[in-house]
Amino acid sequence: MSSRRFASQSLVRLLGHWQQPGSRMPLWRQLADALRLLILDGRLALDTRLPGERELAAALAVSRTTVGSALAHLREEGYLESRHGSGSRVLLPAGRPMQASAVSGEGVDLSTAALGAGPEIHQAYTHAIAALPQHLQQTGYERFGLPALRETIAARYSARGVPTQADEIMIVNGAVSGLAMVLRMLTGPGDRVVVDHPTYPLAIAAIQGASCRPVGVSLPERGWDVAGFAATVAQTSPRLAWLMPDFHNPTGRCMDIATRQAIADIAANTRTTLVVDETMVDLWYDAPPPAPLAAFNSRASVITIGSAGKSFWGGLRLGWIRAPARTLAALAQARDTLDLGSPLLEQLATQWLIEHEAQILPARRQMLALRRDICGALMREHFPQWRFEVPQGGLSYWIELPDSVATSLAARAETQGIHLGTGTRFGLAGAFDRYLRIPFTLESAALEEALLKIKTLWLPLDKAETPFRRRVI
Ligand SMILES: Cc1ncc(COP(=O)(O)O)c(C=O)c1O
Repeated sequence: MSSRRFASQSLVRLLGHWQQPGSRMPLWRQLADALRLLILDGRLALDTRLPGERELAAALAVSRTTVGSALAHLREEGYLESRHGSGSRVLLPAGRPMQASAVSGEGVDLSTAALGAGPEIHQAYTHAIAALPQHLQQTGYERFGLPALRETIAARYSARGVPTQADEIMIVNGAVSGLAMVLRMLTGPGDRVVVDHPTYPLAIAAIQGASCRPVGVSLPERGWDVAGFAATVAQTSPRLAWLMPDFHNPTGRCMDIATRQAIADIAANTRTTLVVDETMVDLWYDAPPPAPLAAFNSRASVITIGSAGKSFWGGLRLGWIRAPARTLAALAQARDTLDLGSPLLEQLATQWLIEHEAQILPARRQMLALRRDICGALMREHFPQWRFEVPQGGLSYWIELPDSVATSLAARAETQGIHLGTGTRFGLAGAFDRYLRIPFTLESAALEEALLKIKTLWLPLDKAETPFRRRVI
């Protein structure tokens, strides 16, 4: 298979402000660190080819020696392979995972906003194993999912204000997989899909992977820009709009009732299908979110995607889609060449967890609210230059830095075994280099230790004399 060549301008955009101001580290080393970060983040896809040294040097306005030394260093580390005449190809050193993983003890992962399993997960699987025998006479192929779980999830939606029947629920293998299925069914190459900007990186990847074009609507300082959404829909005639009203990743915002109404009305009037990702819906800390977006305009076509991943545990790999039964019938066909259904044991475990959510979720919210507050206090103490809102829900803070140094900071942190989520992962075409996403999922001592290490890397970048340049995100 021949590998794709990355255009030098795209690489320059992705690299953002890679030069570390005030650093005594040689420039070639700074460039190597920034490129390594892009590879580990998956933003420079494996097997892509980099532009030639001369071209890259010109695009980056550095000497060819700088580029040559950086690439040679990455070759030595095993991140690049060069063949005469065909440039440098991106790869991973043998045995190196894509991201540092706190779980596997290879460093501190501050790029992933997820939690390990609590004791209730083991309990759920124990109950699932006990319930398994009564299902073993059947084939186990359920394209729409286990009927009892569909009933349970439908009842949950009805209780939240959108009356739902079991035949309007399809069980899928997580929210991202659900989005990929919806894209496969509803879109064709070149279709536009409206997203918030910033947005969840895997949604960008799924949209691009379906050969569609994500069109970002910038989030204002607070809430959502309804007029911007309306104008974008009018100007680009998107096939879909993919939104996270409860709670937006990375900002942790919750869409208010008036905005939900306005967005649903725009969707109904323009016949734009809304795909609403509710992965974080159960992780609210101050007040529960309003009714689902699907409740606001009966003429709007709304597909809602849910997940057990954040409410209970990501390892369940289970989610669901709420849509009219005829839409789900078409989705089931789109699914046939993907997976033919979801694993039975995980469905049984999730059924148990949802049935016991009244005991599980309040404790989870309480624990996370505490971690959110501790994380906020630590950041205020150690990083007075960082600006952030306290998230209303979800698992992370969205931090505005005084300058575009997120990539430089993350590249430095990587060398210390700390994997940071730069804002650029959440933006289109390299946007948001002034932002970091810091999850508050780590237990507080581990979080403080990581933040103190980051502080030593941050101080040389923190030009206190630089006035804070406010910009709307
Ligand atoms: C908005 C959003 N959607 C989907 C996912 C992933 O969901 P799942 O694990 O169910 O695929 C995440 C994970 O962080 C997320 O933030």
